[in-house]
Amino acid sequence: MAGKSYKVAVVGATGVVGSEMLASVKKFIPNAEITPFASERSAGKSVKLDGKTLSITVLKKENITSFDFAIFSAGASVSKEFAPLFAERGAFVIDNSSAWRMDPSCPLVVPEVNSHTLAKDKKIIANPNCSTIQMVVALKPLHMAATIKRIRVATYQAVSGAGQMGITDLADQAKAWAQGKPIPAPKKIPHQIAFNLVPQIDVFVEDDYTKEEMKLANETRKIMDAPDVQISATCIRVPVFRGHSEAVWIETDKPLSPAEARKLLEKAPGVKVVDSPKESKYPMPLDAEGKYETFVGRIRKDLSCPNGLVFWVVSDNLLKGAALNALQIVDALIKKGLV
Ligand SMILES: NC(=O)c1ccc[n+]([C@@H]2O[C@H](COP(=O)([O-])OP(=O)(O)OC[C@H]3O[C@@H](n4cnc5c(N)ncnc54)[C@H](OP(=O)(O)O)[C@@H]3O)[C@@H](O)[C@H]2O)c1
Repeated sequence: MAGKSYKVAVVGATGVVGSEMLASVKKFIPNAEITPFASERSAGKSVKLDGKTLSITVLKKENITSFDFAIFSAGASVSKEFAPLFAERGAFVIDNSSAWRMDPSCPLVVPEVNSHTLAKDKKIIANPNCSTIQMVVALKPLHMAATIKRIRVATYQAVSGAGQMGITDLADQAKAWAQGKPIPAPKKIPHQIAFNLVPQIDVFVEDDYTKEEMKLANETRKIMDAPDVQISATCIRVPVFRGHSEAVWIETDKPLSPAEARKLLEKAPGVKVVDSPKESKYPMPLDAEGKYETFVGRIRKDLSCPNGLVFWVVSDNLLKGAALNALQIVDALIKKGLV
């Protein structure tokens, strides 16, 4: 890998995830030659990378050439239209949207869990939903040891998960409140998010669940190759800028004590256990900001069932939940010699 140069398209380079991608890309691909793409709205704009200014290329068919990697963070419809064009020209596409996640021909990858599903001829690779990624990183070692039968999860998701407009909603509303002005109407999140909780992320689908809740269930089954695991989720938007948190209850086939679970999690790749209740030490979104790990704490017995555990998982949704996981997939492709 050292010395080899790779051509990398970053599609959605002006967005929240795209900016994180640009900030971390050289750590994973030191000799990357980056082309930043965005929409017509960004024509004439530029982005910074390593002190250099790179002009935005507008995403249209005639601007797509040959790349080693195309990392997409520009929404599902953009990805549906343009990802195949990059793949046809030889690129591995790593896509952050929901467009390809449940397509049986596309690997849905969290490198700590299922990098064995990457293959030379599977050019479009889906990056899972942010809340799914951090949960499966924590679940994998427990599943391997005791076989998880049932998962119940409540998420507490930051506004940056809704992109730049989500961040603007919270910032503008909090500022107006602090200045004693009327709180502006939300532009992205369905209700006021400052000093509030909104139990709706994405649209409602079957059985009054939201699309986000069903993504968490369906993607988890696919990534863990556990089609029979039962999952029920409630996803909540919270007035936090960055970092998703989750309360997770699991029921396992074999018994697993909190001490055994803690030991397994301490050894698990990508996980950091922060769990000293007597010292009030546990994961919190402010502490996870800018970090690569998935933090796990509050590990204890679920008092409501015999083989049950409950714990708290926190991670930076823009890093492990998006940009970092995509770059770790690139890293895995290179290390496996698939590029
Ligand atoms: N935020 C998260 O925590 C998170 C986590 C996992 C996955 N994702 C996914 O990542 C994607 C981007 O999310 P974000 O939070 O970064 O959103 P964002 O801040 O709103 O950024 C959207 C990006 O997409 C670009 N874009 C939009 N329409 C385009 C088009 N027709 N052609 C080319 N580029 C276009 C935008 O370019 P312009 O500036 O030119 O409009 C911008 O660069 C979404 O699919 C989202 O679901 C987000």
